[in-house]
Amino acid sequence: MRRTRREERAVTPRHGFGERFTDHMVMLEWTAEGGWAGRPRLLPYGDLTFSPAMAGLHYGQVVFEGLKAHRRQDGTLATFRPDAHARRFRQSARRLAMPELPEELFLEAVDAFVGRDGALLPAGDPTLSLYLRPVLFASEACLALRPARAYTFLLMGFVTGGFFSDRPDPVSVLVSRDFSRAAPGGTGQAKCAGNYAGAFLAQRAAAEAGCRQVVWLDPVERRWIEEMGGMNLFFVRGTGPSAELVTPPLTGTLLPGVTRDALLTLAAQRGYTVREERISVEQWRAQSESGVLTETFACGTAALVTPVGEARDGDERWLIGGGKPGAVTMELRDALSDLHQGRAADPHGWLRACAVSGEEATR
Ligand SMILES: Cc1ncc(COP(=O)(O)O)c(C=O)c1O
Repeated sequence: MRRTRREERAVTPRHGFGERFTDHMVMLEWTAEGGWAGRPRLLPYGDLTFSPAMAGLHYGQVVFEGLKAHRRQDGTLATFRPDAHARRFRQSARRLAMPELPEELFLEAVDAFVGRDGALLPAGDPTLSLYLRPVLFASEACLALRPARAYTFLLMGFVTGGFFSDRPDPVSVLVSRDFSRAAPGGTGQAKCAGNYAGAFLAQRAAAEAGCRQVVWLDPVERRWIEEMGGMNLFFVRGTGPSAELVTPPLTGTLLPGVTRDALLTLAAQRGYTVREERISVEQWRAQSESGVLTETFACGTAALVTPVGEARDGDERWLIGGGKPGAVTMELRDALSDLHQGRAADPHGWLRACAVSGEEATR
């Protein structure tokens, strides 16, 4: 299909994940005196000015979300579970003593943005999606050590072919023994900026060890697997219809992934036994080596479902499923993308259709 010059600019493969943004953004302010200042406003994408004393910059009162809009095979656009992302956005804000954006305003912002810039998502290329980044930060110019009294909500986005590329090549991972992502009572289950800043050094250590991603362990016993970089993890035991899936439980130190939640449902629907259960690094290695554990995959909005082919823990190294993508992994990956692209029915109402200006859409 022929793309317009504007579309070419937005989807050009020269740009990596999150490097090039679409033409608009949505904005809404909150103050302690007035609450939310009306309804989200659609504006041209552009730089902002702020005080050097902006509280979010100093004390890290910043929460964000990541969700996607896809073009379905009938040509219409739909966002995946924006209501679940709106809920998590509120929960993250609550944890950081920030105002909670009402879900209807979050959805209104999503619809306004996708309605305007969704047209950049070309038809006929199911590998592309529109990644939406809502963010809320303390914008008050004040260095008092207390929750700020003014906040700004923004929503921006970009067209992406996927976080690791659109191909499900297995990734290698390093178990982090030196760093923890979260602590009991901390902010691990909130999607706040500081969690990511604290993870970069471990991610760099993984890269230096020749691995693509870092695997986080529980911060207390440093034994139980929690998640991988910015994705949740699933482990498959056995093969065929009797395969069972295990994912670490939401202990408060993991981010409760929207994709994780969807896959628990999709896997159960396909007849697999699914369990939220702890799995230790020792079990992961021993069971991968014995062949009891056949697959491991990571899941998240940005990279969908990504097979993990090889793991490393200090001097130990092991392959999972011979280092190849497993059948259950690929089945669930396809199930999710069939849903995104409208090739499968949506019995749970996870897709929110969006009318794009200048295009016809149905809800
Ligand atoms: C730390 C972390 N874990 C898991 C996930 C996966 O969550 P979701 O499926 O909602 O994208 C993300 C991405 O948001 C993340 O940042």
